[in-house]
Amino acid sequence: MILVTGGAGYLGAHAVLALLEAGEEVVVLDNFANSSPEALRRVRRISRRKPALVVGDVRNRSVLDDLFKRFPVDAVMHFAGLKAVGESVRQPLRYYDTNVGGSINLCQAMAYAGVFTLVFSSSATVYGDCQRMPIDEQTACGHPTNPYGQSKLMTEQVLASLAQADDRWSIGVLRYFNPVGAHPSGLLGESPKAVPSNLLPYLLRVAGGQLPALPVFGNDYPTPDGTGVRDYIHVLDLVAGHLDTLAYLRRSSGIRAWNLGTGLGYSVLELVHAFERISGISVPLDMRERRPGDVAKCWADATRAREELGWVARRDLDTMLRDAWHWQRANPTGYSKMPGSGTAAKVADERASALPLR
Ligand code: NAD
Ligand code: UD1
Repeated sequence: MILVTGGAGYLGAHAVLALLEAGEEVVVLDNFANSSPEALRRVRRISRRKPALVVGDVRNRSVLDDLFKRFPVDAVMHFAGLKAVGESVRQPLRYYDTNVGGSINLCQAMAYAGVFTLVFSSSATVYGDCQRMPIDEQTACGHPTNPYGQSKLMTEQVLASLAQADDRWSIGVLRYFNPVGAHPSGLLGESPKAVPSNLLPYLLRVAGGQLPALPVFGNDYPTPDGTGVRDYIHVLDLVAGHLDTLAYLRRSSGIRAWNLGTGLGYSVLELVHAFERISGISVPLDMRERRPGDVAKCWADATRAREELGWVARRDLDTMLRDAWHWQRANPTGYSKMPGSGTAAKVADERASALPLR
């Protein structure tokens, strides 16, 4: 059985679904700090299988000890954490406590329960500001510029020490580039509780008429059109990488990091224009100064994941944007109830059935 911490969140819920579809048993631990139980109801609806759920905090040792006693967990995917960069600057202790403290607490409880297989959600932010592209796993370009990024780097260091000290551990560190997109059913997707700070969720709200214009943070970067370039990866490809990692970890020991990205970089304007082409909607832009802490460009060399895990990202940018737009149209208020019209899931079902299958 797999424990998925943060399994009700954007990436976690897609991972739970993929695990259930692959025939694994799953228990989710989540405190719903940034998610809703509705995500798990929808996972159940798509997969026709039910993950077990423990509502609790990954920082609470007795919750974890109790969970490991009740469920025969043999591996953990650890998604639980806080991820808003701006908030991490204002509330650093909360971020270190949840992301670093939570991870240490989880590892202590795992060791106590005799569970030593762990997949950790890290981020390309650990690479800092790199000039040379693409970025491979050995690249070191400095340090993250904010407490969120630092918390990921610190957790990676804790995990490396742990694997060095005790060879029973088998740990996969997955450095995500920019996960976007949604489940093609339109039932699962990203449902940020606050106004989104990431590019695609913000763009979707502009296209949906909930926000007036998309701020473009800087058009004077040393990139072909002056806007920031990133490696966007479909959430389904990302979670497929987790299953491949789990298979690898089950037959190895030690610690290994892998980039999960497509190896392709798209600028803000390229992404906006691709979205306009797919949706037929014109997106109003608001040119702004650079956002503090942003890098000009960032894309992956994912050769190691291909060679060692047998994993490659298969879905292109158009598919990411189409699936994200499908999710947004079917769920304009995310997982929360639509005022006066039943649940968003019902609307998603109706609209999904009206769309041609791809
Ligand atoms: P998310 O906020 O949608 O999901 C995180 C989940 O963890 C939520 O369900 C939240 O309620 C839960 N959680 C938070 N604090 C908790 C706690 N103390 N105890 C138990 N549960 C808790 O975020 P996501 O996009 O799904 O990201 C998942 C992981 O991947 C995070 O660790 C994040 O830092 C990492 N990551 C995400 C991205 C991205 O762009 N989404 C990029 C790189 C890394
Ligand atoms: C950000 C975080 C990173 C985190 C990742 C996923 C920063 C500095 N980095 O990455 O640590 O792992 O999210 O959560 O915040 N953009 C706009 N307008 C917007 C939003 C973004 O022009 O409204 C631009 C940005 O300047 C950037 C690109 O779009 O060039 C992507 O931004 P975003 O989606 O926020 O991701 P990152 O900054 O790459």
